[in-house]
Amino acid sequence: MLWVMRFSGFFSAAMVVVVLSPSFQSFPPAEAIRSSQLDTHLRLPSYQASTSLHSLDHRFSFRKASVFRNAEKCCSTGHEITGVCHPSLLHVAITLDVEYLRGSIAAVHSILQHSLCPENIFFHFLVTDTNLETIVWSTFPQLKFKVYYFDPEIVRNLISTSVRQALEQPLNYARNYLANLLEPCVRRVVYLDSDLVVVDDIAKLWSTSLGSRTIGVPEYCHANFTNYFTAGFWSDKRFSGTFMGRKPCYFNTGVMVIDLVKWRRVGYTKRIERWMDIQKTERIYELGSLPPFLLVFAGRVAQIEHRWNQHGLGGDNVRGSCRDLHPGPVSLLHWSGKGKPWDRLDSRRLCPLDALWAPYDLYGHAP
Ligand SMILES: *[C@@H]1O[C@H](CO)[C@@H](O)[C@H](O)[C@H]1NC(C)=O
Repeated sequence: MLWVMRFSGFFSAAMVVVVLSPSFQSFPPAEAIRSSQLDTHLRLPSYQASTSLHSLDHRFSFRKASVFRNAEKCCSTGHEITGVCHPSLLHVAITLDVEYLRGSIAAVHSILQHSLCPENIFFHFLVTDTNLETIVWSTFPQLKFKVYYFDPEIVRNLISTSVRQALEQPLNYARNYLANLLEPCVRRVVYLDSDLVVVDDIAKLWSTSLGSRTIGVPEYCHANFTNYFTAGFWSDKRFSGTFMGRKPCYFNTGVMVIDLVKWRRVGYTKRIERWMDIQKTERIYELGSLPPFLLVFAGRVAQIEHRWNQHGLGGDNVRGSCRDLHPGPVSLLHWSGKGKPWDRLDSRRLCPLDALWAPYDLYGHAP
């Protein structure tokens, strides 16, 4: 298998992309489930990992990114846009935590680099550790952003207390609270996980039509949807009845375009919380933050092209396996799953596609 191959330079990886990309037809749901489980395992609670600002600085030193300026076609120069409510802004929300910081910084870097109008992007960072703001300032001195403190207590009572889920990072659930957290003037947001890079202009994703829907995501209708919920869930009509009249399909919550006006109006946060509340006593699913989103939105989403979430690239570090791209064009590469490209870079056990993440990495001192 080509995948066992060790990394040997950017060009070999780029060739592998070209040669192998049509080979992975489907993404087995069992794999998808395992990926998300491990995702949550890996994220240590940041209150455990957080340290003093001094040692944080020691652990996280990032190079300053280049300054990204608007192209002439942009209709506005960066200086005209002030504040978070300016109508030409495009809004992106990302979590920042100690464990995934390197990934979040690379994600921001990739977005700026591929954007025609980078100065029109406003970043909304969700944190449980406010120290991280300094690192963003020093890495992207020109960046338009705001940091929002997400109180872990908001979800602590809603996360069931099984041993596995006790390990779960509350920040995984922050995406459910964007409508409350973000400024009321923000009407639409692109939510992105921290383990991805965007290799296309995010304005294209941002401007996707959602029609009458509240969220837009790439759907995966070939995945066996049954497996995302327990037998108990399916046998109890009080629960499984929620999917009556819908054609529910799996989707990944790591890339979502959200209409915050509709979300606020309908009160989707509460709907998701209601399922989390049921889960505490009924055990209707095994995973953490994904199933409540599926319960509320599956079969009721605006379809976004699959190019915007080429997920599963994390593969599995323990088995040393690497993942391939799904066929078709690629606008966003997502290292969901257990393995993260920054860990593999450090351990020098790269998967071929990790070479596509590395150019956005700003970690470490200038060479
Ligand atoms: C989906 O998975 C369930 C449970 O594992 C199984 O019973 C069912 O036959 C599967 N459906 C398809 C279409 O593969």
